[in-house]
Amino acid sequence: MPFAESYKIKMVEHLYRSMKSEREQWIKDARYNLFNLRSGQVFIDLLTDSGTGAMSDLQWSEMMLGDESYAGASSYFKMKEAIRLILGFEYFLPTHQGRAAENVLFSVMVRQGDMVPGNAHFDTTKGHIEFRKATAVDCTIAEAYDTSVYHPFKGNIDLEKLEEFLRTHPREQVPMVIVTITCNTPGGQPVSMENIKGVHALAKKYGIPLLFDGARFAENAYFIKKREPGYEHLTIRDIVKEMMGYADVMTMSSKKDAIVNMGGFIAFREEELFKKASVYNILFEGYITYGGMSGRDMNALAQGLYEGTEFDYLETRVGQVEYLGRLLADYGIPVQQPFGGHAIFVDARKFLLHVPPEQFQAQTLAVELYLEGGVRGVEIGTLLADRDPVTRENRYPKLELMRLTLPRRVYTDNHMNYVATCLKNIWDRRDEIKSGLRIISEAPILRHFTVELERA
Ligand code: F0G
Repeated sequence: MPFAESYKIKMVEHLYRSMKSEREQWIKDARYNLFNLRSGQVFIDLLTDSGTGAMSDLQWSEMMLGDESYAGASSYFKMKEAIRLILGFEYFLPTHQGRAAENVLFSVMVRQGDMVPGNAHFDTTKGHIEFRKATAVDCTIAEAYDTSVYHPFKGNIDLEKLEEFLRTHPREQVPMVIVTITCNTPGGQPVSMENIKGVHALAKKYGIPLLFDGARFAENAYFIKKREPGYEHLTIRDIVKEMMGYADVMTMSSKKDAIVNMGGFIAFREEELFKKASVYNILFEGYITYGGMSGRDMNALAQGLYEGTEFDYLETRVGQVEYLGRLLADYGIPVQQPFGGHAIFVDARKFLLHVPPEQFQAQTLAVELYLEGGVRGVEIGTLLADRDPVTRENRYPKLELMRLTLPRRVYTDNHMNYVATCLKNIWDRRDEIKSGLRIISEAPILRHFTVELERA
């Protein structure tokens, strides 16, 4: 059967197609920081897939059934049931988004001087670790950092490196191992079931809890079904159940694979940790049966967990990312391969050869793309990597990427054609781009959100 989207459109939102002269003024006013643009100044917004998805008719109906009781709301139990059925965890705490889940959980688990190994921790995860004067240790496989090398599971952890780390550090200093599925930073890359099993075995051997950062767990399960021998005939839900069976605890940004605009949670296997974290949830988020979420949002989230783990939806979703990736790759544009689950990552270091690294190649490319066609991508490079906390020098990451992140169920393939054409136009004149950007002001941590820049 030929392929087509597994949904149709019931409601639309107008998009303003601006002129280049308008965009030149707006980006200058925004100090060349795309976060400072107003959404109305953007034609196609590929900044993030976080909270930007389109909810379904069933999710909107669930909004009307939300129970806004302070304690023991039926919406809480609906969410609890969805988490138990889809993910297999008995205990959970709602939080207002993913980083809030990290904040609550790490308040219990991470202490000053701790070391936390994992696969390319997401920036808020790393931020919450470093905020507690602990260290995130990257154990991702080396292939992840070469965009031209093919590996079906570039999110995998290097098991030898992890074992070496665990063998040489005292158990008390390592509060957990974190596996981010899919792994956002190197390109929305999946982690194989085999690798998950290997990490689980090591964590068990050394008596260390295993945490999954599960923001895009369903996309990870889809890749396992598509790429890992032995899983092709299992349902997404069966694969998710098996994956989650290896985790002791999970943090979730529901703004991704649960297809809601706001929300998150921590899911626990053990009551003891759940109880300890409950104290911080009440302190930071809200009472344990709503934790920063309204009842209607918990209802929509529960429904989103069911929809987000349907094969047809995931095939449409990941298929659209691949469609955009294929267009760009066919033009010869250097992109992370294989294509990730939620975004296409353009290798800016290979794209803008004449712009020096200290002038922020990926940010320069993102500004060019905005000027070209009003498309907003996002820098995943030197600005995002922040300065070294000790030396205060720029940290040059292994990859300097511009991410084109696809919101779920929002744009059509025609929009993807438009984005690809805009980027090709820049690709054709790439040799004329010889200078980038320079910082005017920046925050000490998570600087990319608020940094102010000028043309170098
Ligand atoms: N973990 C991963 C893997 C993420 O990608 C994100 C957010 C978080 C945790 C934090 O969740 O935003 O709900 O607080 N990623 C977004 C992005 C912001 O654009 O990739 P949050």
